[in-house]
Amino acid sequence: MTGSPGASERLFSRARALMPGGVSSPVRAFGSVGGTPRYMARGEGAYLFDEDGRKYTDFCMAWGPNILGHAFPAVIEAVTKAAQDGLAFGTCHRNEPALAELVLEAFAPADRVRFVVSGTEAVMTAIRLARAHTSRKLLLKFSGCYHGHADSMLVKAGSGIVTLGLAESEGVTVAADTLVAPLGDLEALELVFKEHGSKLAAALIEPLPANNGLLIQEPRFLKRLRELTAEHGTVLIFDEVINGFRFGFHGYAKVVGVQPDLTTLGKIIGGGLPVGAVVGGAAILDRLAPLGKTYQAGTMAGNPVALAAGIATLTELRTGAPYRHLEALGAVMDSAVDSKKDRAFRMVRVGSLFWPYYALTGPIPTQAEKIAPEAVAGFKSRYGQWLDAGFYLPPSAYEVGFLSAAHSPNDVERLVAAL
Ligand SMILES: Cc1ncc(COP(=O)(O)O)c(C=O)c1O
Repeated sequence: MTGSPGASERLFSRARALMPGGVSSPVRAFGSVGGTPRYMARGEGAYLFDEDGRKYTDFCMAWGPNILGHAFPAVIEAVTKAAQDGLAFGTCHRNEPALAELVLEAFAPADRVRFVVSGTEAVMTAIRLARAHTSRKLLLKFSGCYHGHADSMLVKAGSGIVTLGLAESEGVTVAADTLVAPLGDLEALELVFKEHGSKLAAALIEPLPANNGLLIQEPRFLKRLRELTAEHGTVLIFDEVINGFRFGFHGYAKVVGVQPDLTTLGKIIGGGLPVGAVVGGAAILDRLAPLGKTYQAGTMAGNPVALAAGIATLTELRTGAPYRHLEALGAVMDSAVDSKKDRAFRMVRVGSLFWPYYALTGPIPTQAEKIAPEAVAGFKSRYGQWLDAGFYLPPSAYEVGFLSAAHSPNDVERLVAAL
């Protein structure tokens, strides 16, 4: 699979004349890996097919939502059926309690969920709720965690920003209300709460940070964060937009045994269509309008077709079969990596998330600031070869790869050989 991707080049050139950078979301522009972004025409199982008819084994999986693979038959069937009944009503729909029951079963003891359209919106809503609940303004986030593109979260925010080399986004005026602490640093954490604890409305964290490499945190860091937030009356928000439903029919909170006050979800719960959610206890969630005075609304929130995709996806995940397959694929990946003695990378993997780290010495980073420049360079310099060989990885050294239930052991072994 060599030669120039003619159709993608023509489309990108057309798009660049019409759209900023030619894209609808910045990292898709291939700015950090070079070359022309591939225009994908079709997806099936573990594979993508571009406008030139080239086939790629996909390890980006739409950045997470497609845990069952592309065009999973039960999801497509559910979406088709829902679409035939009409795309949007702007009314209540039976799919809302159906998806709510599935989500709350997985996130017990939380007993309320509000559906929104994206992970960004879920985070915006969670922050607004935390501020309403505490009558405080200040937020705490951790360097390298990405929480979507709400103004207050665009500081030290992971892949898109790090890739662009921006400390924060222009046009953001409210970042002064956000404190940023290093991940995993217990001393810094104690200090932040000692100085600002009584003013903190919320602390937000990706419990398994997966937007700036895969930065595995010690459970005791998350446990201490839970203790400190509880002591200071600060709302603890776990952003599980990537983590949620990724490691089992539950959140990563269950894996580490730490219960947040609010959880934000996205990606998998929409099964490939736009659904986000805020999950938590009634004491906080019932502050939302129409019950309370915290306003949030959306023309497309709880869209019946999008929720149908989520219901079909979660129904399949609930059987446990996809997770068993993903676990087996993880083991295949580990032994394939171990068997390659001359490899140039170390693999960082948690379940179906993986991050090839192109530095053979030094510790595996658990903080964004500790990622070795050579690891970034090593990824970038190889990306074009992977594309030519038919592997589609997220186009940034800071992004994690995603295994799906549609991948075969052979797909994973071929990927490791290519890496
Ligand atoms: C942890 C996390 N939070 C929030 C978001 C934002 O979600 P969305 O892109 O749906 O707005 C993302 C997106 O990648 C994410 O990974």
